[in-house]
Amino acid sequence: MEKKIVYSAIQPSGIPTIGNYIGSVRNWLSLQEDYDCFFAMANLHAITVRHDPALLRRRTLELAALYIACGIDPEKCTLYVQSQVPQHAELCWTLNSLTYVGEMERMTQFKDKARNHADNINMGLMDYPVLMAADILLYQTDLVPVGQDQTQHVEIARDIAIRFNNRYGETFRVPEALVRKQGAKICSLQDPLKKMSKSGENPNDSIFMTDDRDTILRKFKRAVTDSGSEIVCSEEKPGVSNLLAIYCAFRGCSMAEAEREFSGKGYGEFKLAVGETVADALSPVQAEQARILSDKEYLGGVLSRGAERAFKAARKTLSKVYRKVGFYQGE
Ligand code: TRP
Repeated sequence: MEKKIVYSAIQPSGIPTIGNYIGSVRNWLSLQEDYDCFFAMANLHAITVRHDPALLRRRTLELAALYIACGIDPEKCTLYVQSQVPQHAELCWTLNSLTYVGEMERMTQFKDKARNHADNINMGLMDYPVLMAADILLYQTDLVPVGQDQTQHVEIARDIAIRFNNRYGETFRVPEALVRKQGAKICSLQDPLKKMSKSGENPNDSIFMTDDRDTILRKFKRAVTDSGSEIVCSEEKPGVSNLLAIYCAFRGCSMAEAEREFSGKGYGEFKLAVGETVADALSPVQAEQARILSDKEYLGGVLSRGAERAFKAARKTLSKVYRKVGFYQGE
């Protein structure tokens, strides 16, 4: 039987956090065993806000090395850089004509970003969801593993696919979002009501995948907790709950087990234990990432083979799309 197709991507802007690791990359590890997976460095998306070109190039490679260091196997899945596959931009353009300005203006992330980058509300920022729809639809994707904040984008991709199919005949598979319940959302250490972000202003909000042991321990020590002293997961205790969720994710234990382990203990001891668990887990990943990054030939080879595989799959869909909309493709 044909394997189902999984597609996901992360922008190579900022340094990935343990939130990205738990919420995305680690999920992908199990998916690559059972599905035909495409994982991309979404660098076309990354220029919709102001960026530094040299940094973007470096972050793209760092992200690829990190994926591999975390266990993403480029033999099992297609790991590639979005800009190396021109069909993304081409399909995006085609889908633009089926997407309404009003729909894009209503997107939550667009509204947030427009607010935060009021001096740079560019067309790319508004078009971001259409490019993401193109990413997904190009590969006839069945499942899109994403964080909660991206489900609205997958919803739009579905709408666009259905709209295209209705207008031009069956062309795209209609994808579904795959949102994992537990560990789907890791929050800021300073403001546990906010998602942990790789682009936040305060570096103490986030544990970055490249943070060393001392930095990790210090950030957890400073993490906000809640009033009271009990270490339990509850809505009234967003700070403690977030730390517990991080602990569970790295330990592979249940919430009940973690609560039992820390019952009667103080916040200080608890935060140190979470910090040590995270530091122990990250240190081998960091060493492996550095090793891969220094082997330019290997990494370049992996990415060019990935781009080639993605190109072939993308070309097939795009050529069908061009035929349906009436674009001349030669005799
Ligand atoms: N917008 C996603 C994010 O910021 C990244 C992304 C780009 C993506 N293209 C995608 C995710 C396609 C899933 C599928 O997290």
